[in-house]
Amino acid sequence: MSIETIFNTMDYGTAPEDRRAALQWIADHGGISGPYVNGTWGPFRDDMPVCNPATGEKLAGMTITSADEVAAAVAAARKAQPAWEASGGPARARVLYAIARLMQKHARLLSVMESLDNGKPIRESRDIDIPLAIRHFYHHAGHAQLMPTALVDRVALGVCGQIIPWNFPLLMLAWKIAPALAMGNTVVLKPAEYTPMTAMLFANICAQAGVPPGVVNIITGDGSTGEALTASNVDKIAFTGSTAVGRRIQNATATSSKSLTLELGGKSPYIVFDDADIDSAIEGLVDAIWFNQGQVCCAGSRLLVHEAIADDFHHRLKARMDKLRIGDPLDKSIDVGAIVDPIQLAQIQRLVAANDAGETYHANTPVPEGCFYPPTLITGLHAADTLMQEEIFGPVLVSTTFRTQAEAIEIANNTKYGLAATIWTENINLALDIAPKLVAGVVWVNATNLFDAAAGFGGLRESGFGREGGWEGLQAYSKPATAIAPPASIAAFSGQGTTGETVDRTAKLYIGGKQTRPDSGYSQAVFGAKGPLLGHAPMASRKDIRNAIQAQAACGWGKISGHLRAQILYYIAENLTAQATGFAARLDAMTGTTTGASEVDAAVDILFTYAAWADKFEGRAKSVPIRGVALAMREPVGRIAALCPDAAPLLGLVMPMAAALSTGNTITLCASQPFPLAATDFYHIIEASDVPAGAVNILTGSQADLAPHLGAHMDIDSVWCLSGEGATQAVKVKASSNIKRVWTGAAPEDHLSWLDAGTEIKTIWIPYGE
Ligand code: NAI
Repeated sequence: MSIETIFNTMDYGTAPEDRRAALQWIADHGGISGPYVNGTWGPFRDDMPVCNPATGEKLAGMTITSADEVAAAVAAARKAQPAWEASGGPARARVLYAIARLMQKHARLLSVMESLDNGKPIRESRDIDIPLAIRHFYHHAGHAQLMPTALVDRVALGVCGQIIPWNFPLLMLAWKIAPALAMGNTVVLKPAEYTPMTAMLFANICAQAGVPPGVVNIITGDGSTGEALTASNVDKIAFTGSTAVGRRIQNATATSSKSLTLELGGKSPYIVFDDADIDSAIEGLVDAIWFNQGQVCCAGSRLLVHEAIADDFHHRLKARMDKLRIGDPLDKSIDVGAIVDPIQLAQIQRLVAANDAGETYHANTPVPEGCFYPPTLITGLHAADTLMQEEIFGPVLVSTTFRTQAEAIEIANNTKYGLAATIWTENINLALDIAPKLVAGVVWVNATNLFDAAAGFGGLRESGFGREGGWEGLQAYSKPATAIAPPASIAAFSGQGTTGETVDRTAKLYIGGKQTRPDSGYSQAVFGAKGPLLGHAPMASRKDIRNAIQAQAACGWGKISGHLRAQILYYIAENLTAQATGFAARLDAMTGTTTGASEVDAAVDILFTYAAWADKFEGRAKSVPIRGVALAMREPVGRIAALCPDAAPLLGLVMPMAAALSTGNTITLCASQPFPLAATDFYHIIEASDVPAGAVNILTGSQADLAPHLGAHMDIDSVWCLSGEGATQAVKVKASSNIKRVWTGAAPEDHLSWLDAGTEIKTIWIPYGE
């Protein structure tokens, strides 16, 4: 080719990366990817092929690890865990650091293997996946080093079962393994069946880095191996993958005490305002939806563009799409590689073919035969169209327009997911006004798909729960050093007689700022320790829960300032203090103890404490390696429901209420079942304290009856199960309805855990400069 031709065509030519070293490595390992358990390989079986998606050729065979072999891997991890934790943070830091160094040394082999196995362009594996994975180990070596001084009151969870998807095989492995090891856990990790190869290389690196046998165990296999791991004797399951499988895992772990974090799907909005730098926004879109062929959980797959610029934007976008080069993933000048597997390709084709809304544009660029799909844009969709709602997980961008900021936010949030969002505008005030209003765990301003080990990543709603990366990610791999005693169940006293009052004073429920009769029309008699009838408490039912949650949804508590929340909590404390004698007497009469006065004191103290925290539980500005800042903002979880403990009926009610209100949440409190009258007295305090209607709702009745409805309710974001195992399980078995957070409480003095339970971290990335 002459120089003149090159100038005329601006053709890049080809620049293929050499694959021989990777293929040789596979051959040297018997052509099989199989388990690495307790520091040894095998058994190796050719149960399933692992293919190069770009060519369809078999790369290796793969062992499907059986349930018995999974159990053996978990046993090895269990045996190794105490010594690994006891070796101490600094010793673990050395090992993590050694892993990072070795990954860096073998970065090229890792990149080539990743592209061969997954089909992603070598530019991406070389410049993004592998460097980020390495960065994760360096960063978490630091966390291990600092654990004894910076996290003095936290210890390891134990053995972590980790299940990862095929879209970022080594990066997801790093996100899972680095924090787990740093905190003193041992791991059993299952790579995805399509992409086990870099996990094999990683196991080899662990052996060289001095990772003790049993600390890192890799088990290859498919969904059946994942299921066996989920069912095994691990202390935690960390899962990244589809929402459907995440839901199954949440169900499968419901009757156990395993910790759970779920990193699931998304349909993330990419919002372009009319003042945006259009060319930059289009370049951002290339990263948002054509990075990794769109097989990215946080892909900016839903374009929302201001109506005034939509035509121009789509026109320029199509021109850019036509310039994307699709082809051999190992060619350094390729933009879009292969789809991971023919099954995934068929899924993309099926979803696009089934759509008859809007206009579909496929990039006018050569598409090779095989597992490739052209960059695609579908314009003119409505927010409710299937492709605006369903995750396609391929290089397909769907688009709609908006007129006002309010409409942009409404469309952006019109999804069951809540993983990420991108905002393009030259107006920083607008961007920072919109960012908090988007239901997403990560927001990028004038940039997209920025990740770093120091910044938390994770979702809301059906995108899952838990954060990976940064200080917040460590929460998911450690627990408080002192375990809390499980709450005791207390039987209600029985008795007989009347209250002696001629006018019936059956207490009511408190919903939406009003005292209301229960929908069931029933109440329960409440007897004191020595048998006298103290009163009647209403029996709440499913419809009362529904009304309470609707009232929570209508309440603007989350939008008021920390200062104002504090004032109202102080006011509640003041009003409770004024009624202390009456409450103390009521508590003594109900429980048959003489601790009423001290319980009221403790409740007042809790109110003062969380009033104090209301404007002090802050986020962070993360030290990320870009010219810019990543803000870790603490946002309220949203609508919380709490099953309050049987014992300490006032304190057990005030504690979750104060923590939830302090962090900006609204709450429905299901009071102590045997001793409900402190709760029904308490609504007089709420009424007198300027608490907005719906911020606090109080229900009484059978927790066993209420718990499943709380678990199943689609509009409750989190249930705090503080009353014991029975009700907790009843909530958990229903909680996957909307991938609900279920939290079982912390010691009363462990304020930070309560405040954490009331907040989600939203990471807002803001690059600097023109
Ligand atoms: P998947 O969710 O089925 O697989 C993810 C991992 O879970 C794999 O390691 C798999 O072996 C394992 N797994 C499967 N069934 C399991 C079970 N019952 N118990 C425990 N582990 C189990 O994802 P898949 O089938 O590879 O892709 C299906 C769809 O999921 C894709 O079309 C895409 O839409 C979505 N997906 C989303 C991802 C994300 O990060 N949000 C990642 C991968 C896929």
